[in-house]
Amino acid sequence: MATLSGAVGGLVLRNPVMLAAGILGTTGSSLRRAARAGAGCVVTKSVGASPREGHPGPVVVQVEGGLINAMGLPNPSYKNFQEEIDLARQGGVPVVASIFGDGPEEFAEVASGLDADCFELNLSCPHAERYGSEIGCEPSNVEDITRAVKKSVDVPVWVKLTPNVADIVSLGKAAQRGGANAVVAINTLKAMAIDVETGRPILGNRFGGLSGPAIKPVAIRCVFDLSAALEVPVIGVGGISSWEDAAEMILAGAQGVQVGTALAGGYGIFGEITAGLERYLVRKGLTLMELRGAARKTP
Ligand code: FUM
Repeated sequence: MATLSGAVGGLVLRNPVMLAAGILGTTGSSLRRAARAGAGCVVTKSVGASPREGHPGPVVVQVEGGLINAMGLPNPSYKNFQEEIDLARQGGVPVVASIFGDGPEEFAEVASGLDADCFELNLSCPHAERYGSEIGCEPSNVEDITRAVKKSVDVPVWVKLTPNVADIVSLGKAAQRGGANAVVAINTLKAMAIDVETGRPILGNRFGGLSGPAIKPVAIRCVFDLSAALEVPVIGVGGISSWEDAAEMILAGAQGVQVGTALAGGYGIFGEITAGLERYLVRKGLTLMELRGAARKTP
């Protein structure tokens, strides 16, 4: 049997298949369930400094190839979230807290107010004013925020990058300069859908972020480019719904993968992906490390 365990971005994981931020990460019990279903680690929904209700509905619309969401970073504030992390830890795998803020000070405040095994900095939500990609599209912000969080905690810090820029590699390099232990690519693509009967945008916020199979080729390209340019590990996310998708992401250079939208099909996805990856490695006679980035090597 091939081993899937190993270190990813400062964490030691039983396998590299993780629950992505935002999906089933609002409560400790759903995070624990993902862990018990086989995830290598679980990432919470993003939490910030103050409670937020998020955008008015509808907040999700199904489109060809995926979903567009405009949740708007609803959360109870970090001050009311520690018990969810503590409950999630009963799942027996590392719990990564996804956090957001409006700059270095707020990010550092949120991070230092939570006890988590790792932090994932949401510098990439495409639909929240003053947060996410509004600040995360600027490399100097990415570097300063990463550095501020690194100074305020003693656990690994991952940075989730936006694909809604001309040059995602410059953002990855900024995160690396700031001391990131890994970058996570990609968050959703800015998108919208219009109801042809009413003639109006469907989402309450008008636009949101596209996730699901439609964005997988974009994510693969970003991971390929980032892993070639960076020394820190790249964790791939975007449209992964099968072991073949996970293998493709690892071939592109990912050290870990995150599963989000595909959770709509149930928690069994973690077991399906890890079992499929193990069989694939045995069939190919490769280790996970040998698979990683193999698509980048010249024949
Ligand atoms: O909660 C949210 O609205 C997060 C969105 C995102 O990071 O894409």
